Amino acid sequence: MSPTAAAAEPSATFNVVFLGAGEIHFGTLEGSWNHSLRLETLLGARLRVLALIDPDVPRSRSRVATKHAHDDKHVRQAWQDTLCAASPEEAAEQLRKDGKEEVHLVLIGAPPHVRGALAPGRDLEVRVLKALGHAKAIFLEKPVAAADPLTTEPEAAEVQARLEHWATGGKVVGVGYMLRYLRPIQLMRQLMNEHQLRPMCINARYFMAYEQAVKTAWWDVEISGGPIVEQGTHFVDLLRYLAGASNPALPETILAHTVTHDEPAGQVSKLSFDEKAIVEPHRRIPRVTNAVWKHADGTVASLIHVVGLHAPPYHAELEVIADGWRFALQGAYDPVPKLAVRKPGSSEDEIFEFPNDDPFEHEFEAIISAIDGAGATNGHANGNGIKKASPILSSYVDARQTYNLTWQIRRASERSQKELAARKQNGH
Ligand SMILES: NC(=O)c1ccc[n+]([C@@H]2O[C@H](COP(=O)([O-])OP(=O)(O)OC[C@H]3O[C@@H](n4cnc5c(N)ncnc54)[C@H](O)[C@@H]3O)[C@@H](O)[C@H]2O)c1
Repeated sequence: MSPTAAAAEPSATFNVVFLGAGEIHFGTLEGSWNHSLRLETLLGARLRVLALIDPDVPRSRSRVATKHAHDDKHVRQAWQDTLCAASPEEAAEQLRKDGKEEVHLVLIGAPPHVRGALAPGRDLEVRVLKALGHAKAIFLEKPVAAADPLTTEPEAAEVQARLEHWATGGKVVGVGYMLRYLRPIQLMRQLMNEHQLRPMCINARYFMAYEQAVKTAWWDVEISGGPIVEQGTHFVDLLRYLAGASNPALPETILAHTVTHDEPAGQVSKLSFDEKAIVEPHRRIPRVTNAVWKHADGTVASLIHVVGLHAPPYHAELEVIADGWRFALQGAYDPVPKLAVRKPGSSEDEIFEFPNDDPFEHEFEAIISAIDGAGATNGHANGNGIKKASPILSSYVDARQTYNLTWQIRRASERSQKELAARKQNGH
């Protein structure tokens, strides 16, 4: 994890550069992600968006125009002088000319297939380090890449090494596994630590609502990596986080099955685009992936990811069993997520509710505090004044381990699908 570069006093303005004018930064009907909104809420009058970088410059301009028309004067002020640039190099050059060289935070929300390696077109972090390395912090979205780690491992390791090297000397790096910050997950971790519990098993269910998922690249395994690499990654990461760092997953134990797009059980009726016209059959994503694997202490982890619900929100929950205990996270994406806890000696669940719990907000509180000192955010979104933020909970090194595990799950599922096809062909 990166060291914390906490300053004694928060700076007068907090200067941000966004890479990517897409849904993660500006919102969608599909879910609650919208990083610009979280920063506006947490930083209020201090926020200055120096640049929005995206090769699709008209898309950026339209995003900025929407901010200029915002009701809140602090939002209008934050985006008043935002530069729309096509590349990090162009933005850095212009910001230098304009004398705007103090950058607190660079947010990388470009698609994962342009990141995580050294080859041109896949080397966005390396370019950001070169052009905007004077920034205090870099925050990257999950997953850390989209290419198969088997073929890109030396390059991916080099990207990690460069980010780690950069982070020495008080710089901050974080990755967007926001569900780690969910209050029920933090309470679960706290109780497990207090009672020195070792999970016997963890069972996770992530049912995605696909009707509003309109980005066609997401539906193409060759571009996105597929639903476990791109999205189930949130829960693979939580399974790793709850199993504990000293209890790593054993990739050689993974067993996995899918329901593919061409099987009778894989038919979906509410797609918002013509998949048959846009995505070639061998590139279409599986609708269900069900995987099970072991961890070093014996813990059995199981995950089912389904592209099967229609309207949002997603239905995402998980359970941890440790000797005498059951922890159940209910509604990871709901406005009021819950944790049910059953303790030794009790046959009843104790229910903890977390109204308006917003893991994205906690994630940004952690990042802003790491850059700018505790108490650096408004904290007004929860109406409870300035809060003590958690440390950054997802490092690049750790996020790469989640990434590698998701690819191992994908490969295991493809192996079993091939074996099944071969058996069918041989009449078994
Ligand atoms: N944490 C979450 O819950 C969550 C939710 C949604 C998306 N994400 C992640 O955010 C990332 C972006 O997803 P999105 O939904 O915003 O995608 P999107 O397709 O809506 O937007 C991506 C934008 O990046 C731009 N882009 C492409 N190459 C670029 C480059 N070299 N430099 C700068 N911009 C570039 C594209 O033109 C596009 O405008 C992905 O990694 C995705 O997995 C995370």
